Amino acid sequence: MDRIRIRGGNTLSGTIPISGAKNAALPLMIASLLTDDTLTLENVPHLADVEQLIRILGNHGVDYTVSGKRLGQSGASGRTIHFTARTIIDTTAPYELVSKMRASFWVIGPLLARMHKARVSLPGGCAIGTRPVDLFIEGLQALGATIDIESGYIVAEAKGGLKGARYRFPKVSVGATHVMMMAASLAKGETLIENAAREPEVADLAACLNAMGARIEGAGTSTIRIQGVEALSGARHRVLPDRIETGTYAMAVAMTGGDVTLEGTRSDLLQSALDALRAAGAEVTDVANGIHVRRNGNGLQPVDVVTDPFPGFPTDLQAQFMALMTRSSGVSNITETIFENRFMHVQELVRLGARISLSGQVARVEGVPRLAGAPVMATDLRASVSLVIAGLAAEGETIVNRVYHLDRGFERLEEKLGNCGAEVERLSS
Ligand code: UD1
Repeated sequence: MDRIRIRGGNTLSGTIPISGAKNAALPLMIASLLTDDTLTLENVPHLADVEQLIRILGNHGVDYTVSGKRLGQSGASGRTIHFTARTIIDTTAPYELVSKMRASFWVIGPLLARMHKARVSLPGGCAIGTRPVDLFIEGLQALGATIDIESGYIVAEAKGGLKGARYRFPKVSVGATHVMMMAASLAKGETLIENAAREPEVADLAACLNAMGARIEGAGTSTIRIQGVEALSGARHRVLPDRIETGTYAMAVAMTGGDVTLEGTRSDLLQSALDALRAAGAEVTDVANGIHVRRNGNGLQPVDVVTDPFPGFPTDLQAQFMALMTRSSGVSNITETIFENRFMHVQELVRLGARISLSGQVARVEGVPRLAGAPVMATDLRASVSLVIAGLAAEGETIVNRVYHLDRGFERLEEKLGNCGAEVERLSS
């Protein structure tokens, strides 16, 4: 299993290109199931999760071709991929595939809308909490689907097709909002979704669906109105920049000090995280081609954050911000409200010398003057990258084990950081 070795202490300077967003690419790829025409996606990041979803979609009958560099070739980033689901050959998403990636559960929406039936494995447990699927079930039932649970599978059916309805989510869910938008696009009549997720990836999916002929209004706000259409066509769509990758590198620069331009991204995608960084002492400015982040020799101020659905502080940046706060000059409280049990990085940060105590959903981080490198291991994607950030500032050598977590969500991490002066090296085994 690959590991990453970091020798801490260098400041970062230069330019980091930001990739297309993983969390936008995945639902966009799944939307290809809605049409027998070709959906072309540009700026698709080269990540393990994307490759895994390509395999899963292939199981349902989606063919794909890649323009430019082929999968697996070095430098094959920001690819253009053409997806075509001419015929759906299988409406079952098996446990072996869905259990590997929760987002693949989302195929339930397009399969039900286009084929009027779907049999999709329950995703099962997950390292960051129980993550139930009740909201998906309720939402699809509101659109007229009958849903049974049989031997670990959700068996959904909509004889005669889905019907538009008004549905209010009792809790904000990104995935359930994606699924409802996809399903309602091919339902008969109008659907009104209330208390929808407002994440930029929801608006990106709606833009793509509209380019395919859907009639969706209000995506990006908490009320989404969808007029169902008979059929969707192909389209060409560019995946929006990854706000979590943007925030992660911005925090890395705030951690080490230095001066970096994050290229091809936008500050409106992560305003609350950038505000927290400014409060911590980083200078963050918009520039023509992205965002510029700088921190000079001054230390880091403690900042309290509470994770919340968009436009709040993203849970996917909580671990990285905690790593940053380990070096602040005081005490900060970090509250996680989205996922229970999303503090697995705490004990590993402590191994690097951090002082953190947990009480329920609040982590109290007392800044320390120095961190010291150590071997560490992470159990999820965002936790892993928080250890990289800590390692960049730690004295000596940090080895991050289980790098496959990083490969799920960060494209060419060691190259991007290495080009800015960090000593980061992948150790293959
Ligand atoms: C997406 C993101 C993930 C991010 C999360 C929250 C992708 C591929 N993943 O995950 O990176 O951390 O949004 O911003 O885009 N919930 C229920 N019942 C349900 C569905 C969800 O109770 O049926 C709960 C979850 O357990 C969680 C909360 O709702 O506590 C939010 O989860 P949700 O927004 O659905 O996360 P995902 O879409 O899985």
